[in-house]
Amino acid sequence: MAFTNPTTTNKFKAAAIALALFASSFTACKSSMEEDLAPEQSADQTETVVSANDLDPTSEKGSYHLKGHTLKKAFSFPIGAAVVYERLKNEPYASTLKKEFSRLSSESNFKFHMLQPKEGVFTFAKADSIVAFAQQNNMQVHGHTLIWALDGVTPKWVLEHKGGAKEFEAIMKNHIYTVMKHFKGKVTSWDVVNEALTPGGGYVDNIWLRKMGEGYLLKAFQFASEADPSAKLFANDYSQEYGGKKLSKYLRIADEAKAKGIRFDGLGFQMHTVLRVDANMIQQSFVRTAAKGLLVHISEMDVALRYQKPKTFDLTDSLSRAQGKKYKEIVYAYINGVPKHLQWGITTWGVGDKDSYFNRGYAESNHDYPLLFSKDYKAKWAYRGFIEAGLGR
Ligand code: XIL
Repeated sequence: MAFTNPTTTNKFKAAAIALALFASSFTACKSSMEEDLAPEQSADQTETVVSANDLDPTSEKGSYHLKGHTLKKAFSFPIGAAVVYERLKNEPYASTLKKEFSRLSSESNFKFHMLQPKEGVFTFAKADSIVAFAQQNNMQVHGHTLIWALDGVTPKWVLEHKGGAKEFEAIMKNHIYTVMKHFKGKVTSWDVVNEALTPGGGYVDNIWLRKMGEGYLLKAFQFASEADPSAKLFANDYSQEYGGKKLSKYLRIADEAKAKGIRFDGLGFQMHTVLRVDANMIQQSFVRTAAKGLLVHISEMDVALRYQKPKTFDLTDSLSRAQGKKYKEIVYAYINGVPKHLQWGITTWGVGDKDSYFNRGYAESNHDYPLLFSKDYKAKWAYRGFIEAGLGR
């Protein structure tokens, strides 16, 4: 659970839990929305491209590692995982990270409410530990996220703050400056703004929009580029891989930034996706983004399997292979759609299935199986499909 801080009061904890519940209900609703947008295709009819004959005979039973290969060695760009501070001391969580990954994001430890829970009170300890773990293991760190454009995940003190555009600009500037300067030279890229647009390409209603108007978004980028000129700056969002109005709007915002001389380096595609999604369509969205000279980051990837399933279900071999195929298709879409110099990397949202935020609140962790590793950290077909794309197989 992301919101645990021994020093917080019960009152704050209750508020934090409410926030967490809000966030999880939001993301649940988001993923069903993504399912609505995705083209119909039945998982069971999906052909597999990874076959049992490809198995490494020396591999641990039920594990799909490839002998002599790891994710981080198989790709020319960083392969990331989102971590939660509390799990870094767990095994084989930590050793899997060290062996396979070359970049870390954090599920929540870099978010506004975690870093500045009270006005002017910055709590960096957990995020610092993640950075230290990354440095000890030669990994980059991607900062997620400076401004999350949702009131439900914005600290109460910000929501209740008095004042207008001027005061809120000062709050934004102070947060972005303090956080980015703290991590300067240690965090190489940032999601400056997260989930700022609606699927229809409008601005999501939130406190920054109400106080500062639509200009808040590029203001955040301006402050970020001033605070750390060497960090790469991203707008991060979901479902723009479908190539609809949301993607078009981000590309227009990138043009606007360029015209105004504000640095806007790239787009983060969260890619919380499902089996039925068409990888060709995703590739076209990457091509359009890269055509603007923007970096492309797959920033929160997972492939959920739970469409039309009961609350809990088993991971069958055919479902697992279909997931491997989908991971492989999407990773290939990235490699083929994004020129090398714009490939910022691919990050999965967790390590083993039991870590997935989709499984939060489900004791047996069999509500979904979205990630590359099983709940006991064995490589799944998902891993095999993913790494085979890196190896050109
Ligand atoms: C999620 C975390 O995984 C959860 O642990 C937390 O409770 C809520 O946020 N899109 C995002 C991420 O940009 O920040 C969300 O992370 C998942 C959806």
